[in-house]
Amino acid sequence: MNKSDCLCRVCSSTISDIFDFGNMPIANNLMPVINDTYTKNEYKYNMKIGVCINCSSLQIVNVPEKELMFNNQYAYFASQSEFMKSHFEKLGNKVMQLMDKEKDYILEIGSNDGIFLKYFADKQYKHLGVDASENVVETAKKNGVNALCSFFDEETSIEINNKYGKAKIIVITNTMHHIENCQEVAKGINNILAEDGTLIIEDPYLLDMYKIGSIEQVYAEHNFIWSLHSYKTLFEKHSIKLFDVEHFDTHGGSMRYYFSKQNLNKTSTMQEYINLELNNKIFDINTFIKFQENCINISKELYNFVVSKSKEGKIIAGYGATAKSATTLNYSNIDKNLISCIYDSTPFKIGKYTPGTHIEIKDAKLFTKDSPDYTILFAWNHKKEIIEKEKNNKSKTIWVEYIPELKLTYEN
Ligand code: TYD
Ligand code: ZN
Repeated sequence: MNKSDCLCRVCSSTISDIFDFGNMPIANNLMPVINDTYTKNEYKYNMKIGVCINCSSLQIVNVPEKELMFNNQYAYFASQSEFMKSHFEKLGNKVMQLMDKEKDYILEIGSNDGIFLKYFADKQYKHLGVDASENVVETAKKNGVNALCSFFDEETSIEINNKYGKAKIIVITNTMHHIENCQEVAKGINNILAEDGTLIIEDPYLLDMYKIGSIEQVYAEHNFIWSLHSYKTLFEKHSIKLFDVEHFDTHGGSMRYYFSKQNLNKTSTMQEYINLELNNKIFDINTFIKFQENCINISKELYNFVVSKSKEGKIIAGYGATAKSATTLNYSNIDKNLISCIYDSTPFKIGKYTPGTHIEIKDAKLFTKDSPDYTILFAWNHKKEIIEKEKNNKSKTIWVEYIPELKLTYEN
């Protein structure tokens, strides 16, 4: 375990390197065509992961420029999952209870295609979404959502404050872990959160990632994997205090964090998770070494499976051109020579090619007709929804899961 030259972005301690993936592409940079020029010019960076055992945050050591990841070609549209839509509708109903419809407004940072704020727009609540990627902001606007295309930082927070005033609620789902300069965001939130306001953050949870060996949660974009301890460390520096958490199974295990500027009573759930993190030794480097070994085994197992089935002449496809799978595919050297294609329902992704491994992305509507022998469930976090849908479509395949271990499912 080497000490990195880099300092933790959360607490400024020296971080320890735990994983070097070599050259990796940006996970959501799908290629429009495959030819020599495109392939030669494909952007790659050395993806290294470090862990800070002072505050328990896992982070990418050298993050590519943010404009390379978030731009008008952003490939992730959150509304592709019916389950996620209903997940956010429930959060919307809960948040509306905390708001005075006449006075208050809600700010969402990373509002994507408007999947969450649409409920507020439909019910005429005052709201504002901020997102750095133009194409998803355009989709949000088409959904009737008031959205601004910008990176959220201190300057943006001042502009928003001047125009809209302090926000009663700030929501950041599956976005905070994208942001390299987390101190700047925390400063901006401190500027704009009302004294009696609530900050709600939700993203993949460190202990879940550790438990199921899903190192692929980390890629350029998922620059951090947070825990209660690391979020507390970050926000306490900016006088914002954690007082409650809620755990969900979404995205392979996520935590929702509730913060306030006030000194609210800490809930027993929060205390339970604080203890759980301590019991799981998140401040011990050996925890992360074991995790690394587990992840390497998972990657090897998947590679060996694909190679052996390919030698038998079987057709192996994928389902869900996820950003996560870019880490696994590139790290395990599973590319277009081994995988026939990946099926996905996102219009923006169909007809493009996966970064680094150049596997064609096909319309999920073709899946039933094609019926590949084996289908690797890259969107494993949407397993129930996808397998049920394809069962109803009478699709025939053998599903291959690889997280937390290799498993074949015959659900046809
Ligand atoms: P997701 O796991 O949400 O995220 P990430 O890209 O951050 O790893 O991506 C799920 C992908 O699976 C997305 O490209 C949409 C696709 N998908 C389908 O094609 N069909 C479905 O029924 C669902 C739920 C997702
Ligand atoms: Zn730290």
